[in-house]
Amino acid sequence: MDQNRTPYFQALLDYVDSGVQPFHTPGHIQGNGMDLAFREFVGDNICAIDLTPMPGIDDLLQPTESIKEAQRLAADAWGADHSFFLINGSTSGNQCMMMTALNPGDRVAVPRNSHKSMLGGLVMSGAEPVYMRPEVDEELRMDHCVTPETVAATLEANPEIVAVYLVSPTYYGVAADLASIERIVHDAGKLLLIDEAWGPHFHFHPALPLSATAAGADLCINSTHKMLSAFSQCAMLHQKGPRIRLDRLAMVLKMFLSTSPNLPMVASLDVARKQMATEGEALLTRTIELAQETRARINEIPGLYCFGEELRGRKGIYALDPTKIAVTVTGLGYTGYEASEILRRRHNIQVELADLFNVVALFTIGTTRDAAERLVQALREMARDDRELDMFAPSGILEQRLKRGNFRLPPVPPMRMRPREAFLAEAEFVRFRDSVGRICAETLTPYPPGIPVIAPGEEITAEIVDYVRLELKAGVRIQGPYDDKLRKVRVVKE
Ligand SMILES: Cc1ncc(COP(=O)(O)O)c(C=O)c1O
Repeated sequence: MDQNRTPYFQALLDYVDSGVQPFHTPGHIQGNGMDLAFREFVGDNICAIDLTPMPGIDDLLQPTESIKEAQRLAADAWGADHSFFLINGSTSGNQCMMMTALNPGDRVAVPRNSHKSMLGGLVMSGAEPVYMRPEVDEELRMDHCVTPETVAATLEANPEIVAVYLVSPTYYGVAADLASIERIVHDAGKLLLIDEAWGPHFHFHPALPLSATAAGADLCINSTHKMLSAFSQCAMLHQKGPRIRLDRLAMVLKMFLSTSPNLPMVASLDVARKQMATEGEALLTRTIELAQETRARINEIPGLYCFGEELRGRKGIYALDPTKIAVTVTGLGYTGYEASEILRRRHNIQVELADLFNVVALFTIGTTRDAAERLVQALREMARDDRELDMFAPSGILEQRLKRGNFRLPPVPPMRMRPREAFLAEAEFVRFRDSVGRICAETLTPYPPGIPVIAPGEEITAEIVDYVRLELKAGVRIQGPYDDKLRKVRVVKE
């Protein structure tokens, strides 16, 4: 296929060129009715292509023309049988995968360190999770991927499982052994669904981990907006092989899409695909080299550690995406949140993610050498031990706990009800600190990385209360609770 074509973007340009007088949504009518300050800032062109589905422009819900061709080009580029554009991120991708592959009561193997949108998929589909333990790295204090051995053991112990759902890569850039897992899952006659939100670039460079489509996943999702150049919220769902019912998938996609998609977003997917298919390898070579060089420089700074290839082969780390720079800052006495604050307030640098121990900086095809230099300089400055104590000195929140040796990531709490049952059950609110033993009816998720500490249906344990309170004290944003200060938590009524 001619990957230089951008049929959908072109259809929008043709509409603008044609000089048609619009009497249709959106109501700003190509910017004419828009607030002037906003329009001047965002520019006339984006307003001109913010249109609505119509003949000649095609309809994302029922594509027959340029979107159909654009999605075929995407499937060709990613090695899928079919690709579908999503405009509500991989969040909707996870929900679509589950709603397509699973029926109420079906059992699905999922890693417990999945993104919270997986839980949304469980609640909607009514499927029942069989949690797989990701490999917990006690040294780096983070979860890695699920191993082929864990998948095989889970299927052996639960032969009624319908599908295996995986997250690979993790937010920190660790990838699973997808080829081995694909063999295990398909040999057992199950479906393989992969959340590859963080790996839309894998398919375009030989030095990156094997992509989910290349591994033969039945369905997988990519956040095209995360690591490639599409606008925020833009993602793709890829389908491959004979196991997925395309009619069901088509119905599900329609259910999750707005009837008024943002067309510049859709066009940005078309263009991001062309960019990867035609220049992806060259662009990514530059990105990978810059990331590797920066990683090595950060590792020369005393007190900081930025893991990389040396960990390949450690349990749960089959391959690594070098473009995620995860810097462990505990050697400086800081939490990741404190380091993130310092980078922002002292150096005007914003990282993608902070957790208790790390900050993660993304290197993408948009990252410049100057930006990398600024990051290294800022980290060097942060690590200087001859600086006077000031407002940016470590608070010591974590250090005391680590020194006492009583810090552990909380074990996965027992599941007492299906997520859907707990989500829909009659609920009440109790003081969070007094909630031990109750069944949680909401999701508590430190964000980022967006992995729930507790999900609906799970028993609130003392370890969970302790950990979440530590996270709150360290300044993390907990997404999910109705009471955003988390003085009270939503639990199933007894
Ligand atoms: C593993 C994973 N899956 C899915 C999502 C949701 O993606 P999106 O933000 O594109 O909706 C995220 C978001 O961070 C994620 O980390």
